[in-house]
Amino acid sequence: MKKILFVFALFSLTIISCGETKKEDVKKEIETPQEEAKEAPAAGNDMIALGEKLFTDKTCVSCHQLDAKIVGPSIKDIVKIYDQYDASLVEFLKGNKEAIVETDPGQVAIMKANLDGFVKDLKDEELEALAAYMKNAK
Ligand code: HEC
Repeated sequence: MKKILFVFALFSLTIISCGETKKEDVKKEIETPQEEAKEAPAAGNDMIALGEKLFTDKTCVSCHQLDAKIVGPSIKDIVKIYDQYDASLVEFLKGNKEAIVETDPGQVAIMKANLDGFVKDLKDEELEALAAYMKNAK
């Protein structure tokens, strides 16, 4: 019975959140820890989904495949090296850090052109999303 009530509360929350009216009341009915436990993985998945979309929209995918090097190194190779050095993908994308995966100036210039062309207008959370997608790509 409790479970049904909880599901109902979630359902109402979805409907009412459109109207903004009783949102706070409904929120209080749901126990906070339970709500957090439900939302944490969902937020992560949302980030990854946004990252995946950006990875296509911002043309990253045309040079970075999951497993194989094409123009740029594969996502897996990039993430492996970033893990190894405990480096931040976001900082690289922001242009704050030098390339560590491939340091050949010609290759770096290709990627740099993308940072200047596509990446510089992205918001911090979009960069975080791109990084989340890359780290979780399988
Ligand atoms: C035109 C091809 C091209 C596109 C498009 C491209 N990249 Fe790259 N990328 C490269 C090349 C070449 C390298 C290797 C040079 C380097 O490591 O900086 C690279 C390297 C990287 C690296 C590793 C940097 C390092 O430390 O060496 C990351 C992270 C990366 N790209 C992310 C992205 C993301 C995110 C996008 C989309 C916004 C993107 N790339 C779009 C060609 C591209």
